[in-house]
Amino acid sequence: MTILDQASPAAPAMRGMTVVQARRALSEMFRRAGLDSPELDARLLTGHALGLDHTGLTIEASRAITDDEARAIDVLAARRLAREPVARILGHQEFWGLPLRLSPATLVPRPDTETVVEAALAAVDSGGPRQRPLRIADLGTGSGALLIALLTELPNAHGVATDVSPEALQTARDNARRLELDRRARFVACDFSAALAGPFDVIVSNPPYVISGDIASLAPEVRHDPRRALDGGPDGLDCYRTIAGQVGRLLKPGGHLVVELGFGQEAQVASIFRMAGLVPRPADTDLSGVPRALCAAVPE
Ligand SMILES: C[S@@+](CC[C@H](N)C(=O)[O-])C[C@H]1O[C@@H](n2cnc3c(N)ncnc32)[C@H](O)[C@@H]1O
Repeated sequence: MTILDQASPAAPAMRGMTVVQARRALSEMFRRAGLDSPELDARLLTGHALGLDHTGLTIEASRAITDDEARAIDVLAARRLAREPVARILGHQEFWGLPLRLSPATLVPRPDTETVVEAALAAVDSGGPRQRPLRIADLGTGSGALLIALLTELPNAHGVATDVSPEALQTARDNARRLELDRRARFVACDFSAALAGPFDVIVSNPPYVISGDIASLAPEVRHDPRRALDGGPDGLDCYRTIAGQVGRLLKPGGHLVVELGFGQEAQVASIFRMAGLVPRPADTDLSGVPRALCAAVPE
C-alpha cells in the first residue's frame, strides 16, 4: 500500500510530511482520480486545511505538518474525491471580482454568468449614464451574484432579489451586507417576480434551465448544486415561460430583461419572449463562443 492509498482518520495519509510534500501528494492523488485541475485544487485545499494563503504555503513549505493538519487534509481530500467542487468545500467563490459566500442552498456562481452582467450593463449604457437612479430585479438570485455585481457597477441603483429558497436568500443578504450593498438591496421569497411591484429598468435572471431528465447525467461536480437551482422542467424552458409571463407588467417601456441561456436554447427562449410581447436581440456569447445572455426589450 502506498502513502496515497491510506486515508483514514486514524492514520492520516499525509502524516509526517512537510507542507510542500503534502500538497504534492494531494495533487498526485487528484491527478490519479482524473480531476481537471489537480494542482490548483491541491493548493487551495492544502491552504484551506492549514489556514495558509498562496504566500503562506511557500513560506511554510518545509515545515512538518501536525497530525491534526494531516487529518484535516484527509477530510478535504475525501470530499474532493467525491467530486464536491472546491468552491463548495471552501464555502466561497469569486464572481465579477467579488468574494461571495456560498451555502448548500446556493448554486456556485459560474464565470459564464458574468456574460449576463455585461449584457445588462450594455443595456443600461444604451439608455444613459450609469450614475442615474435605476431599479433592478434579479429573479432566482442564489448567492446574490447578479444583483450584487450590478449594484457595484451602478452606484445609484436599488435592487430587489428573489428566490424560492429562504436559505439562499439569507446567504445573498449576508453577501450584500458584507459588501456594504445592503442599503440598496432587498430580498424577497417568491416565485420569480410574482410578489414584486414595478417598474424596473432592468430585470436579470439566471434561471434553472437543465432538462429534468438530463440532471442525472450531469458532471458529478454539477450535481452538488441544489436540484431546484438546476431543474428547468421537461424541456428545460419552464422558468423562461414563467418569467416571460410575469415581467411585461414590471418593466418600464424601453426596459430590458436579460437572462442566461443553457446550451442551444437561444431560438426557443427568443420565441417565448416574442410571444410575450418582448423584442429579443441576438444573444451575447460567453468566453467559449456559446450564446449565453439573451437581452429582450419592452417596446417604448
Ligand atoms: C441557476 S440558479 C442561479 C443562481 C444565481 N442567480 C447565479 O447565477 O449564480 C437558479 C436559482 O433560482 C432559484 N429558483 C428556482 N425556482 C425558482 C422560482 N420559481 N422562483 C424564484 N427562484 C427560483 C433557485 O433556488 C436558484 O437559486
